Amino acid sequence: THEAPVVLRGPVLHFTADPGEDITPAPGSVEYLDDGVLVIENGRVTRLGAAEALLSELPENITLYHYPDKLIMPGFIDPHLHFSQLDIIASYGRQLLDWLNEYTFPEEMRFSDPAYATHMAEDFMDEMLRYGTTTALVFCTSHPHSADALFEAARRRGCRMLAGKVMMDRNAPAALCDTPARADHESRALIERWHGVDRLEYAITPRFAPTSSPEQLNIAGRLAQDFPDMIVQTHLSENQGEIDWVASLYPLARDYLDVYDQVGLLRDRSVFAHCIHIDDDIRQRLARAGGRIAYCPTSNLFLGSGLFDARRAREQQVMTGIASDIGAGTSLSQLATLAAAYQISQLQGHPMTPWQGFYQLTRGNARMLSLDSRIGSFVPGMEADVVVLDPAGSPALSRKAARSKNLFETLFNLMMLGDDRAIHAVHVQGRPMTTSAVSR
Ligand code: GUN
Ligand code: ZN
Repeated sequence: THEAPVVLRGPVLHFTADPGEDITPAPGSVEYLDDGVLVIENGRVTRLGAAEALLSELPENITLYHYPDKLIMPGFIDPHLHFSQLDIIASYGRQLLDWLNEYTFPEEMRFSDPAYATHMAEDFMDEMLRYGTTTALVFCTSHPHSADALFEAARRRGCRMLAGKVMMDRNAPAALCDTPARADHESRALIERWHGVDRLEYAITPRFAPTSSPEQLNIAGRLAQDFPDMIVQTHLSENQGEIDWVASLYPLARDYLDVYDQVGLLRDRSVFAHCIHIDDDIRQRLARAGGRIAYCPTSNLFLGSGLFDARRAREQQVMTGIASDIGAGTSLSQLATLAAAYQISQLQGHPMTPWQGFYQLTRGNARMLSLDSRIGSFVPGMEADVVVLDPAGSPALSRKAARSKNLFETLFNLMMLGDDRAIHAVHVQGRPMTTSAVSR
């Protein structure tokens, strides 16, 4: 089907490579057009260039969106969050294991009602888009209909979305526990129903070692073997109490990562959330296998889990993405995630540049999910998911924008002060998303 080309005009920024850690981005990594034109046909980028040169060459029948004084970027990507936890953000006073028992599991039990799951999936998709996030790797609950609800909500909006039903069969309320066999056939049924449908991808999702029996982890490993390219997502070494518990539950394993490795869950494209308390040996095994880390700074601070060593992960070449981890994370805003990451980087003595920050939200996270040939930049052929930022979108931003001298400062303002008010518009496959919240 051929629709009229969608054309976005205004300042355009995207990354074609990792800009590195320096104040000056690596040569050729950043492309910025003061007055650019992004041409989108059938949901994909076909051209990007200066407005002056390109506009005259375009056909008459284009649909033009003009965003002067804004900043057109690839939609943000969030590689780790739990859609069921949207409403338990900011639950007081607990660290990981108590937080799960007191707040998380009771909320996830409400998802036994399919109507509730559907309602929350719809709200979650609207909220994500309102914050400029167009793709995410999502944990659902152990109820298979929670994954149905999320995939359905993503599909109706045309979003590229990755998700899986949580596998968990012990150390949690009975109402949330499946069994190894049930987790297996429910996961396979969901893969059959959703994997590869439109822009949807299934992810094999054992919650973490403490809530899966050895039998269930084996089942997850066999599932992974049957789907060799599929993402596996779980949690690793977030909290010291968790790590000690895993050591007692799996006394024969060399360490926490080995629990996953022994059943074939450590492999290329496996995504491990947190990885706070890990050593060089674990980082090396992750890097060798192609395992990836989802770094969740607001969550790590909120639960008092610790400070992730992003620099060491980079030095040891472990692919790392940056994520909100709702609902232990405190905001769906990936701008807020960058602000927390910056503060942690300051404590560690290596301030993160805005180049690196915005690279990570877009092409970096796409690469970490092995999706960089589809999303994360505006190279022709890419799927055209777009966030339009407003560098003066709140009173504080507006004051700072008035005295900002260059793109570096504009980006840093957005990263430190930005929130949903800085999200001016969102396009998915070129189409403007008109949830009431986005279209202000
Ligand atoms: N570890 C196992 N489950 C969870 C979860 O839901 N949130 C976080 N932050 N860590 C986990
Ligand atoms: Zn998580």
